[in-house]
Amino acid sequence: MSKSMQTLWSKNVSISKGELHCSGISASALASEFKTPTFFLDEDDFRSRAQTWNIELSKAFGPQAGRVYYAAKAFICVEVARWIADLGIGIDVCTGGELAVALKGGVKAENIEVHGNNKSIEEIEQAVAAGVGAIVMDSLFEIERVAAAANSAGKVQRVLLRLTPGIEAHTHESIATAHEDVKFGFSIASGAAWQAIMETKKHASLELRGFHSHIGSQIFETEPFAIAAERLIELLAKYNEEFDQQLPELDLGGGYGIAYVDGETEIHAADVLGELANQVKQVCAKYSLDVPNISIEPGRAIVGPSMFTLYTVGTTKVVTLENGASRNYVSVDGVMSDNLRTSLYGAEYTAIIANRESTAKKIATRIVGKHCETGDIVIKDIDFASDVTPGDLLATPATGAYGRSMATNYNHISRPPVVAIKDGKARVILRRESIEDLLRLDI
Ligand code: LLP
Repeated sequence: MSKSMQTLWSKNVSISKGELHCSGISASALASEFKTPTFFLDEDDFRSRAQTWNIELSKAFGPQAGRVYYAAKAFICVEVARWIADLGIGIDVCTGGELAVALKGGVKAENIEVHGNNKSIEEIEQAVAAGVGAIVMDSLFEIERVAAAANSAGKVQRVLLRLTPGIEAHTHESIATAHEDVKFGFSIASGAAWQAIMETKKHASLELRGFHSHIGSQIFETEPFAIAAERLIELLAKYNEEFDQQLPELDLGGGYGIAYVDGETEIHAADVLGELANQVKQVCAKYSLDVPNISIEPGRAIVGPSMFTLYTVGTTKVVTLENGASRNYVSVDGVMSDNLRTSLYGAEYTAIIANRESTAKKIATRIVGKHCETGDIVIKDIDFASDVTPGDLLATPATGAYGRSMATNYNHISRPPVVAIKDGKARVILRRESIEDLLRLDI
């Protein structure tokens, strides 16, 4: 494996005698014990990435470091929630389902922040009853709903307002979230944010702690994060001027980009948080504000590179294209049901033959799944070993974020398991769905 390829895999993945190993266990042994497709999660890698973001946030902001809230939407199950609880970091949930998993995993309610642009009343009531650290409010309706839920529970709920700082982040349009024409948040520029502040302040059952923004996902530049922070701080300054009181918290969201294919590099916590801290301190000084507590919500950057997917090749087929060239279609045993990202966002992945070495010539190849549509693709164009054959194992790195969490039962395929690997031992932490699971809903 080349050095740049190594950066795509979790830290305990290695190639030995041509075969992929994770923490010393061979791909063939993993496939024979757990079957395929399966997600393998390198536990040490996950923990150390989570810790790195936590440590770098503290280094960058010192006593003003708020919390790292791991974004559950990237991937969560009860065991991973236990790791989060164990690491003492927070968790960002955006549905009642994610909240239930976080609580079941033992994450303290005060370390949970609740998101969502259309939380149901039931979800709001559950969050208030659980005693979550903060609810991030996203609409005027929601301000009323959270206030009413807190009021009837006899509580004062800590809240943040999700704001739209008006930034065009350079990423796929489906995952950019801070420009004006978007369903999330209150626009700063249009005055909606100020109106939301005034509405929130009317309710004795709400304690406004500060502002939140999340500018998008899979972002590599620091500048858009810094601009968002600046716009939020400007509003803090306006609030301070108006009410002679400073709000204590800002949450700057997640979105830090990772490498998926050879040649890409992830954004490093130390770099982005260091630059962000400089900017925050400068802008606060400009407005004579104390630096607020700064929190962040990385999801992809923690779990993305910690997992890889193992598939088994079922068929190969060489087709002749209109221009006379040819393409090898390699079909594996999943894809749209375990990785929607290529078909949804045109995401790029790479793969290797995981069970053996191949020195065969590389030919134009498309790696596809077993679902009934042409868009069922994990890798659209790759030069891949021409001798790949049924029974070979293929491994795709960096599938931890938005892979299993967006898995579907399309074509009544059961969703794959997640197997955690640590110290040479592999164990199922989320089991494979069975046909019985699929039939259970039919009446
Ligand atoms: N905080 C909030 C409020 C979010 O909406 C998100 C992601 C995050 C944090 C975490 O962002 P991350 O650090 O993971 O980039 N399914 C898409 C990504 C959607 C992201 C939605 N929100 C994908 O597969 O690329």
